Amino acid sequence: MVDVDKVLDEAGLTNPHVREYVSYWAGVTGAERIEVVSAADDERLLQESLEAGELLPVTGGRYYSRSYSKDTARSEERTVVATSNPEDKGVYNNWKPADETVKTLTERMTGASKGKTMYVIPYLMAPVGSPLEAYAAGVELTDSRPVVQQMIRMARVGIDYINDLADPSSFVRAVHVTGDLPNLGQGTDADQRLFATVADRRTILHYGSSYGGNALLGKIAHGLRQACYDGRASGKFLAEQFLLLGIKDKETGEEFHVVGGFPSASGKTNLSMTLSPDALGERYEVTFYGDDIAWIWVGEDGKLRAFNPENGVFGVAKDTNEKTNPGAIKAILPGSGAIFTNVAYNEKTQEVWWEGLTKHHPDDLDGWIDWKGERIADRIDDELGDPWAHPNSRFTTPISQVPNAAPDFDDAAGVPIDAIIFGGRTRDREPLIRAITDVAEGVYDGLTLGAEATAAADGLEGVLRYDPMSMRPFLAYEEGDYARHWLKIIGEATDKPVFAHVNWFQRDAEDGHFLWPGYRENVRALLWLLQFKKGEVKGQQSPVGIIPTEDELDLRGLDLPQRDLDRILNLDLKRWKQEMGFREQHLQQFKLPEEIWEAHKRVAAAIDEAAQA
Ligand code: GDP
Ligand code: PGA
Ligand code: MN
Ligand code: MN
Repeated sequence: MVDVDKVLDEAGLTNPHVREYVSYWAGVTGAERIEVVSAADDERLLQESLEAGELLPVTGGRYYSRSYSKDTARSEERTVVATSNPEDKGVYNNWKPADETVKTLTERMTGASKGKTMYVIPYLMAPVGSPLEAYAAGVELTDSRPVVQQMIRMARVGIDYINDLADPSSFVRAVHVTGDLPNLGQGTDADQRLFATVADRRTILHYGSSYGGNALLGKIAHGLRQACYDGRASGKFLAEQFLLLGIKDKETGEEFHVVGGFPSASGKTNLSMTLSPDALGERYEVTFYGDDIAWIWVGEDGKLRAFNPENGVFGVAKDTNEKTNPGAIKAILPGSGAIFTNVAYNEKTQEVWWEGLTKHHPDDLDGWIDWKGERIADRIDDELGDPWAHPNSRFTTPISQVPNAAPDFDDAAGVPIDAIIFGGRTRDREPLIRAITDVAEGVYDGLTLGAEATAAADGLEGVLRYDPMSMRPFLAYEEGDYARHWLKIIGEATDKPVFAHVNWFQRDAEDGHFLWPGYRENVRALLWLLQFKKGEVKGQQSPVGIIPTEDELDLRGLDLPQRDLDRILNLDLKRWKQEMGFREQHLQQFKLPEEIWEAHKRVAAAIDEAAQA
């Protein structure tokens, strides 16, 4: 047995509640060694991982890691929210009773870290000194060294964050045990994996994965699921899977801030790191605050405010290139310390590659291995077209490396929010942008957000996989209560944000091409929204919001066919009528407040009226 007290004394970890928690889980997991880590240990831990072969070197002080081949994405089916109150059971949160969940996980974790080191990672999910600090501290225990290195990039990590807490017992207890990955029955009836947020005990217990989305507990489970729960329990804030960006008008000196909810793989990282299109000149500067999480509250000034609780970016590698996302490419250059997971790697030149980084894969196959670790040169005929990188391969890099990071990205006071946007992948029906000024209709719009069914998620053609506010995988309590909490928080703001729904993904019905060029050009739609909020443009009223007129949208330097432009600035009322029926079925699952139903009925009536005209 390790002498836990001795280790914690030497590390200077004085918080008695943290000490008790570490001792308890060291006993359960049976770890052979304990090590308290901080950001300053990064270099040493990287060297240890290189020596152990857990990481491979990438040129310029960067790193490559592979997760087990059946462990490459977040597992939504194996993820649960547990509490002692059955009323927390929602449609999407896989609610389970707290007692039995803790019991099951304690059993699975018993002795499961034998022979391993248990790393103690004290962290803070917030800028230092923020008004939400009481909800931001946590201590992750993990038996995986690469998880420590990724946490150091994604969160603020150090012992002072938990030694000096105002309430020393108020930290999230986040236990991660990797388990015996080749023997967990992933995807079978006997699947041993279980990822639980025991929200009313502020305890997270994740067993059976070392992939970042399941194992970086500060980010996913605390920053979103636990914070979603705490936000309502305290009545103080919203925690959402939202990007956060700034747009500065250098001519007028005005600054705007936008938060946006897009389901996973619908463009948050790309939009948040984007730059203003060259054709618009130097006037606008887009700045990065966050690409995946925003905590939102009403400040003492009555304004809606937000910050990104994270300290890094965990972005999809696929299709990231100089054209789609130049900011991301700069953030992972030599010297950035970036970690690449499940991309392709060259054992001789120590380079990395993924689909979409360049048009074609490297010509010389010598030295390249794919995301499973298999030599590309040894591929047999029917494997030749297989991707080199996993479609969910990722890069992990600190915000300090993002070239257009906002100078105030870690300001404890957050930034005032001017607009809340929602966007999914919708191949028809949804115009480029529609602004919504009524709060209940804005919240209603978020609740009916979705992305179209794809080959991966089966469903009916034209029926969305609904993803309320892009929070479907992270909702911690019942959806109706969630809607009420949203209405309460936004209702308390004196200066209401404008809402909008955006869609970069509308396609031509015949040849399938994207009607809108997307990426950097998306800034044009946001600029219209901000002008609309200031009253400089009026748009045209439609049954589902206000759509820009063609001359209001700044299209300088774009060469869009008129046909495509007409499509993205108009509604297909027949499809909208059909959609309203699907929405009704979707919303009926929840115990929604009357205001949301009223908003739904208003929109439905407006569509009917327009369709008859
Ligand atoms: P996130 O998971 O929400 O952060 O989404 P990402 O920003 O990583 O983007 C997911 C995928 O959508 C990537 O393959 C992007 O290249 C693609 N994507 C992002 N923005 C756009 C866009 O404006 N237009 C098109 N056509 N694709 C986009
Ligand atoms: P994503 O972030 O939204 O960029 O995919 C990570 C995740 O949600 O797992
Ligand atoms: Mn992302
Ligand atoms: Mn996400």
